[in-house]
Amino acid sequence: MGDSLLLRNAKLVLPEGVLNDIDILIEDGIVTRIGRGLEAPNGVEILDVKGKIVIPGVVDEHVHMREPGLEHKDNFTNGTLDAAAGGVTTVIEMPNTLPPVENHKILLEKAKRLVSKAYVDFALYGVIHDGNIDEFDEMVYAGAVGFKIFLGPTTGNIPAPSDGTLYEALLKSAKFKVPLAFHAENWDLVKYFTEKVKSTGRTDPKAHTDARPPICEEEAIQRIALYTKKTNGISLIVHMSAREGVEILRRARNEGVNIWGETNPHYLLLTVEDYEKYGTLMKVNPPIREKEHQEALWKAVLNGIITNIGSDHAPHTEEEKKKPVWEAAAGFPGVRTLLPLMIDQALRGKIPLTKIPELLSKNPAKLFNLYPKKGTITIGSDGDLVVIDPTAETIIRKEDFHSKYPLSPFIGWKLKGKIVYTILRGTIIAVEGKVLGGPRGQWIKYSIETIHK
Ligand code: DOR
Ligand code: ZN
Repeated sequence: MGDSLLLRNAKLVLPEGVLNDIDILIEDGIVTRIGRGLEAPNGVEILDVKGKIVIPGVVDEHVHMREPGLEHKDNFTNGTLDAAAGGVTTVIEMPNTLPPVENHKILLEKAKRLVSKAYVDFALYGVIHDGNIDEFDEMVYAGAVGFKIFLGPTTGNIPAPSDGTLYEALLKSAKFKVPLAFHAENWDLVKYFTEKVKSTGRTDPKAHTDARPPICEEEAIQRIALYTKKTNGISLIVHMSAREGVEILRRARNEGVNIWGETNPHYLLLTVEDYEKYGTLMKVNPPIREKEHQEALWKAVLNGIITNIGSDHAPHTEEEKKKPVWEAAAGFPGVRTLLPLMIDQALRGKIPLTKIPELLSKNPAKLFNLYPKKGTITIGSDGDLVVIDPTAETIIRKEDFHSKYPLSPFIGWKLKGKIVYTILRGTIIAVEGKVLGGPRGQWIKYSIETIHK
């Protein structure tokens, strides 16, 4: 159940277009009417947003909130508080926690543990490797909305599956219509290039980028595209960083392969030039690359080749981040800054405003079978909304984060636009970055009935 609320005078921004002077009625958490000059039912709270932008709550399909097992880095309470403050009303939580989410029991335990701490709604990934492909079906029945497969090394060091397991997982993806999200870097090539660059004695932060050149992604994405085509599976290439990967994605999508691409704000907003300023703070896997890659990513975002934008929220401790380049942890918190950074780009004219709900809400919700409950504002969908003032400014400050270690390269950035309200199922859960009330998030499960009807 949720609350009732009548939003008045919204500038409703959806991928399909923009409508002015719109009223949206949410009753018991569900959108029941959209129109002009709606009557307020008795006793329903009214929120006049006076022409401000209203978009669907963001569905961040890519967060690592570290609970259970890695709470020294951060926890689910802090992560979902940051989500609420940042206009994210649903998060899809990655499985590289401890223990890794590799069977249905662990999945159910994780869900049980997180639900009492969730400030926003959440769904869960399972992980697939060579040792647990037999668990796939049970994890789906237990509620996993997707699976993560790590083809390259990163936090948690979950081994890459053999090609046979990969193929089998994609067959199952086709059968259940659940997507597989790939960390697409070729493990052997990453190892090879890392040794090569290390042996030169380099310790500058950019050495990390040179140790994971684009071919690592190119090879992995090519293989995934081929297997996805042959199996009719559904795949998502997460955190795309390289021009070469985009090119393969473009070809595969043009051929009709069910392959989706995600990138993250840091690849769109930072380049290797920024290592001078941020050092290992901006170390992330795959690495941030040169300008030409950034330009290819923007192009792909604009022309619909890259379909999704998530945060890859991945907090670590200060000690872990500040180590020398080869040992420093990869990743940083992002769920708090995802929407503010992208809104800023839209308000600066880099991308149409209507692309924001498409890339951050609609497409992630569609891919993970959460649409139209999540990811849009239509009759019958959850009343998850974000109200944005396009005339105000935001300065990203350390104090805005709930993370244990707010180590974001974006601190200090001055942005156009400001998130004024985050609304979850009809309840205002954050006002200007301040979270109100307690954890009321729900666990959203894979539902075989809705998907296969
Ligand atoms: O930099 C990264 N950090 N990339 C990943 O793929 C995982 C993430 C993490 O969990 O720390
Ligand atoms: Zn990630």
